[in-house]
Amino acid sequence: MCGIVGCILKEKNDVAPILFDCISKLEYRGYDSVGIATYDNKINVRKAKGDIESVNEKLRFKNMKGIFGIAHTRWASTGKPTDENAHPHLDATKSVAIVHNGTLENYTELKNELINEGCKFTSTTDSEVIANLIKKYMSNGLNLEDALRKTTEQLKGSYAIVAFSKDEPDKIVATRQDSPLIVAYGKTGYFVASDTPAVLEYARDVIRPREGEIAILSNEGIDIHDKNGKSIKWKSTYIDWTPEMARKEGFDHYMIKEITEQSDAVKNTLTQKGKIQKVIEKIGKVKRICLVACGTSYHASITGKYLIESLAGIACDVVIASEAKYTAKTWDEDTLVIFISQSGETYDSRMALKEARKTSKTLAIVNVAGSAMCEEAEFVIQTQAGPEIGVAATKTYVAQLTAIYLFAGLISKNNALVDELYNVPAYIDEAVKQKDYIKELSKRYDFADDAFYLGRGFSYPVALEGALKLKEITYIHAEGYAAGELKHGPLALIDEKVPVIVIIPPGEDYPKTMTNLEEVKARGAIVLSVGAKGDENITKNSNVFIEMNPKIREIIAPLVYIVPLQLLSYYVTLDKGFDPDRPRNLAKVITV
Ligand code: M6R
Repeated sequence: MCGIVGCILKEKNDVAPILFDCISKLEYRGYDSVGIATYDNKINVRKAKGDIESVNEKLRFKNMKGIFGIAHTRWASTGKPTDENAHPHLDATKSVAIVHNGTLENYTELKNELINEGCKFTSTTDSEVIANLIKKYMSNGLNLEDALRKTTEQLKGSYAIVAFSKDEPDKIVATRQDSPLIVAYGKTGYFVASDTPAVLEYARDVIRPREGEIAILSNEGIDIHDKNGKSIKWKSTYIDWTPEMARKEGFDHYMIKEITEQSDAVKNTLTQKGKIQKVIEKIGKVKRICLVACGTSYHASITGKYLIESLAGIACDVVIASEAKYTAKTWDEDTLVIFISQSGETYDSRMALKEARKTSKTLAIVNVAGSAMCEEAEFVIQTQAGPEIGVAATKTYVAQLTAIYLFAGLISKNNALVDELYNVPAYIDEAVKQKDYIKELSKRYDFADDAFYLGRGFSYPVALEGALKLKEITYIHAEGYAAGELKHGPLALIDEKVPVIVIIPPGEDYPKTMTNLEEVKARGAIVLSVGAKGDENITKNSNVFIEMNPKIREIIAPLVYIVPLQLLSYYVTLDKGFDPDRPRNLAKVITV
């Protein structure tokens, strides 16, 4: 889940400031260490443990000389976050520089072989073997491209690799296997990166090399070669995300900016209605649907299941991607398997998608255009949230929900529900306006060690997502429960120190949820309720009441009721002095 970038400029200017700018945009992929290597008649490397800003203060990346180079921001997988383990890595003779994203399963074996051949290693990463293997094959007479190809033949696992050598100092080469990599060109030069936000400022025409292909960047252009070294004709896609979309634009954090942008995410995704209708027609008849996803996208999938089953009457499973192997055995030609993913690169989802392609129709609901899952699924629906930089998913979640509501509404020909979706952006804006109130009340929750989120029916996945938002950025232990499940065990944990957040919109499930609310209240819990404005019963039974527009029906509530829960997590995080955009141990895109 590291971020990688390479750049070669058309004019002979120093590339380091551009590399630094690009890699700064990828900090959401990891922030354990950072480094840059440039070529200036020799290879220069600066790298260290720490986040980009603090390492830059120490190492002054922008002063580095050289007209091309590579950069890396690390999320440690093999080898601790240390200066030595920071990328770029050089081979033992210091003539090849590489950056790598992924994990190599057979690196110990390869490393031992290289050590036996006299090679010295300076890090405990898996990646350093790549630089040494490339060097070994170049010493045996191969050129850089062929040496990279021969190296990848030895590697087992996932990788995106970008490399250059002082022995062929006019090019950067790159390749991938099960890890994302894009190549892009703009006015100033040619780029390679793990994902598009890195290069948006400089290049928006993007090519996505397929697995096993090698991209060769020189100051004259881009060449892509197949496994046999034959040049292939490539087609680029223009990315319509603007550079501004990936900037903070005056907000303190990406997370609050992205929460604020949620009404636009819904509005823009609603424009996909026509395309979704066409996808539904192309898919044709299905007897069964299975939704597959991870994390926040899994929570959106549970809402999808409830919608599809209740509106369309189609049997629908929902499964966590890393647990899909058993359900996968039941997929057949009458099953539509839907994958929901912000990044379109999540490893477990992609592996399940590969399985589903063998037997079933597949549909990917993805935010990042041109990502792996867009190519790998038979049908694609693109959510229109724009780039999401904060590690905690917010606007992409409501965009996913919008897409799945449209899908369920259209497949069941429920025009009333589809029409109602157009009111959602205004409801979201109203909810965001409560941010000062939520900021104030967040102070009451800093002390908590545990918190429970309760919801029933459509509000159950909202409870799960609310709890995930709290735990991932505040580090407070939080659990989401189906409200009716509480009395089957978790109620034993409730006492006067435990905040319970109850999601209780008006509708069919309201009376039963109210009973559950009273149960926790009777056991002394501190109750925060999210419900319809003016509800006296809720007021009476809650310590804190976040009031939502009473017109929001239970079925629509997931799209809006999540907003105060996101805001609560955001402000509790600030109160506790943590960075909401960079939660510890996490990265935005999980490609391993
Ligand atoms: O890119 P994806 O939607 O496939 O990512 C899945 C999860 O890693 C992701 O939703 C994660 O749970 C969120 N970033 C948490 O806020």
